[in-house]
Amino acid sequence: DPEIITEKDLMRRWSRSMRAQGKTIGLVPTMGYLHQGHISLVKEAQEHADLIVVSIYVNPCQFAPSEDLATYPSDFQGDIEKLRALSGGVDVVFHPQNLYDYGTSGAVSENNDASGNSCSSQSGDDKEKRAEGAAVSCIGERQYGHETWVRVERLEKGMCGKSRPIFFRGVATVVTKLFNIVEPDIAVFGKKDYQQWRIICRMVRDLDFSINVVGSEIVRDADGLAMSSRNVHLSPEERKKALSINKALSRAKLAAQSGQVSCRELRNSVTQAISESGGKIDYAEIVDQESLEAVEEIKRPVVFCIAAWFGKVRLIDNIEINV
Ligand code: PAJ
Repeated sequence: DPEIITEKDLMRRWSRSMRAQGKTIGLVPTMGYLHQGHISLVKEAQEHADLIVVSIYVNPCQFAPSEDLATYPSDFQGDIEKLRALSGGVDVVFHPQNLYDYGTSGAVSENNDASGNSCSSQSGDDKEKRAEGAAVSCIGERQYGHETWVRVERLEKGMCGKSRPIFFRGVATVVTKLFNIVEPDIAVFGKKDYQQWRIICRMVRDLDFSINVVGSEIVRDADGLAMSSRNVHLSPEERKKALSINKALSRAKLAAQSGQVSCRELRNSVTQAISESGGKIDYAEIVDQESLEAVEEIKRPVVFCIAAWFGKVRLIDNIEINV
């Protein structure tokens, strides 16, 4: 069974003692409510490292006040069961209470009240508390004086960064914290969150982290919908409509492979298909796989990235096109 560690210093001590014994460590960062997509990352990590750490932490700093921090699904016991059932095993589940709690020493005094202390507590039935955390824009920022952020300045601006301007700042910062606490040799990220994966790769290169970042393929349900913890909020009707995303992306890939090189044409047909199915497009962009810069004609490896709303749920998906 995995050991559950909730304290940063205990986590770091475990990692250091394992590394002193010559073991390599693989980290899979997650926000929990695990599904087969997460499980596939764990299996990927097992291919690259001796020991596996899965972190489960709903990071309040990557949610804007208007977003779904309060309703983000969680099921810690279920997650542990899923990891326990996995052959090959998971050695540690790192499940911190609040990664932005540094005690009171650096706290901003006027906001350093007792009510703030549990804002990003992760113990399960505390979704209201999490919403409070988002309402102060970032728990830690006010309560504990956290003011240091990692930004990947160009890559964070496009696509998801347009409608979620603080999202990648929050992701890059929490992943940096996890890297510094766990000190892994490798870390696995899903290509489902393609921009996130590329941002982490760039951050690791730019800041000389000695960590090998591995990208792992998208896992889909049998009907083609990319797995996501947020899918649980789709009604059966919305879920059916959401299948239009992958269908349209797959058709676009076929069209590109049979000679359609115009990204405008490809984007038009995809946005039309998704809109007709009742999805509200946030963005539909065809970008270079590494630089994430928009391309007009497909002549090098690209990725077609989509974000769209179905009801109250914002879904993202993408498909790599290598012609
Ligand atoms: P979360 O959404 O829980 O996802 C954790 C990891 O699982 C990410 O690397 C994500 O890309 C991957 N993943 C999710 N669904 C997948 C699917 N269907 N197929 C393959 N991989 C999938 O992404 C986050 O959490 C957070 O932003 C985090 C990196 C943990 C920082 O807080």
